[in-house]
Amino acid sequence: MIDLSNQEIANNITQDIYNPDYNSRANHYDEEIVLINRRACDVVAHLVNVFIDDKNARILDIAAGTGLVAIALQRYGFTNMDGLDPSAGMLDKAKEKNLYHNYYYEGIYADKKTSVPDELYDHVLCCASMDDDGLIKFESIEEFLRMMKSGGYGIIVDRDSFYLKSQQTNEKLFTKLEEEKKLKLITNFSFRNYIKNELVSLDGRALVFQKI
Ligand SMILES: C[S@@+](CC[C@H](N)C(=O)[O-])C[C@H]1O[C@@H](n2cnc3c(N)ncnc32)[C@H](O)[C@@H]1O
Repeated sequence: MIDLSNQEIANNITQDIYNPDYNSRANHYDEEIVLINRRACDVVAHLVNVFIDDKNARILDIAAGTGLVAIALQRYGFTNMDGLDPSAGMLDKAKEKNLYHNYYYEGIYADKKTSVPDELYDHVLCCASMDDDGLIKFESIEEFLRMMKSGGYGIIVDRDSFYLKSQQTNEKLFTKLEEEKKLKLITNFSFRNYIKNELVSLDGRALVFQKI
């Protein structure tokens, strides 16, 4: 059982340092997310529902973790999701819940292709997993694009601070990808209460782009 007086949890949410040992966190992860009141998956699912009409669209959930995004998407009627995550501990939890069709036990890195074939997915998502220090680096968006079909949406939701600490580099990256006609940035906004509880209220960041 965990509670907000737990020092590790308090550190996680008050500083921007997250325990990267997801295998060891997997057993308590879902409980922790409810406890800190993180709304990221709901925002992802809402954006999917706004931008994507086809409930059977083939969607890759990048950094799927224990499958919380899939649960949020199912509430809107989306059914055709695959999950990718390098943490077996996390992804096994999603598998136990039978949330995805296919499971890729691998990570996304800017300098390396995943085993996912080119343009397999209609759309890709990434929730709470983009951070240049330790999680998926923003430059890996090129790998996101490789796995997507032309016209598909890429939807990213994370802590605003993770985006802002490399804001200039991120903006340059999106400008470059737009100039190279690889994507069109549809929206890029910050929002309040990504995490909201008695200890903190942290802003979130949402990015939606479309592959050209
Ligand atoms: C904060 S959790 C988010 C999980 C899920 N998307 C959610 O919203 O609950 C971060 C996830 O990113 C995964 N991860 C870390 N590095 C990664 C990488 N290079 N590529 C893909 N996933 C990665 C971790 O294993 C972990 O499951």
